[in-house]
Amino acid sequence: MAIPSLTAADGTVLPAIGLGTYRLKGSDGVDAVTHAIRAGYRLLDSAVNYENEGAVGRAARAEGGVRDELVVTSKLPGRHHRYAEALTTIEESVYRTGLERIDLYLIHWPNPRVDLYVEAWKALIEARERGLVRHIGLSNFLPEHVDRLVSETGVAPVVNQIEVHPYFPQQEAIDYHREHGILVQGWSPLGRGNDLQENPVVAEVAAAHGVTPAQAILAWHVARQVIPLPKAASPQRQRENLDVFDITLTDAEVDAITALGRPDGRLADQDPAVYEEF
Ligand SMILES: NC(=O)c1ccc[n+]([C@@H]2O[C@H](COP(=O)([O-])OP(=O)(O)OC[C@H]3O[C@@H](n4cnc5c(N)ncnc54)[C@H](OP(=O)(O)O)[C@@H]3O)[C@@H](O)[C@H]2O)c1
Repeated sequence: MAIPSLTAADGTVLPAIGLGTYRLKGSDGVDAVTHAIRAGYRLLDSAVNYENEGAVGRAARAEGGVRDELVVTSKLPGRHHRYAEALTTIEESVYRTGLERIDLYLIHWPNPRVDLYVEAWKALIEARERGLVRHIGLSNFLPEHVDRLVSETGVAPVVNQIEVHPYFPQQEAIDYHREHGILVQGWSPLGRGNDLQENPVVAEVAAAHGVTPAQAILAWHVARQVIPLPKAASPQRQRENLDVFDITLTDAEVDAITALGRPDGRLADQDPAVYEEF
């Protein structure tokens, strides 16, 4: 299945959907990621803190015929924001994947109280210079953090991976990133298995298009040009989640799902202004 793509301001092209991999690890993880690549996924999420760079890298290596199309992603944890530590952490990520380089490396959380994210960003810039990574980006950064990074280093991220699902649609953040040519990846795009899939508004949109609630939600992400990263362990769900690019929601349907948003809609109250992760 061919996946459409989206392009950042600097010309970086990313697949319009990716595989979430949190909790996919070990041999089960290798199997799940292998199925996903064979089904057509080209963007694979991962992170140092998911302890699964090995599984993702192993699957990517084994499917060597499509290596050039894959966007293997990892993320720098908050405990290694210091410049030298960040570079060593990125090297270790590359070694764990067994790949020659990682395609997309993100700072996992800004941890603004600690205030080392600009230093970490300089390390990611250097890692790109050294060829350890192809593209660099952010995760969970608020616009004020992005503005500061860009003004202090002159280097913009290609992507910011943030929490996006119908209960927390992030319209303002999406508008900000679009204005700046930064792509948005949506984490927990299906609400991480909460009641979203039983929501009557979602169910009505799904029924109107003859698709599943998960597909209706993913079509909503696609319509908003957010790159969703649904995690699915089974081949059947992985394929279902990929089969969403022929579903064209009306503006009214998109708006109705967006209207499910609420200020306290975050899944676990992880406001990047104060939430910290190491
Ligand atoms: N940057 C960050 O700080 C951050 C934070 C959280 C997550 N993430 C990334 O985002 C990814 C996705 O988020 P997530 O894992 O929290 O949640 P999610 O993708 O919103 O939801 C995953 C859950 O939905 C189920 N599911 C998948 N496809 C389905 C379908 N077609 N029908 C019904 N249920 C379906 C999965 O089932 P199965 O159990 O069967 O697979 C799993 O229980 C993560 O895996 C991770 O890569 C990043």
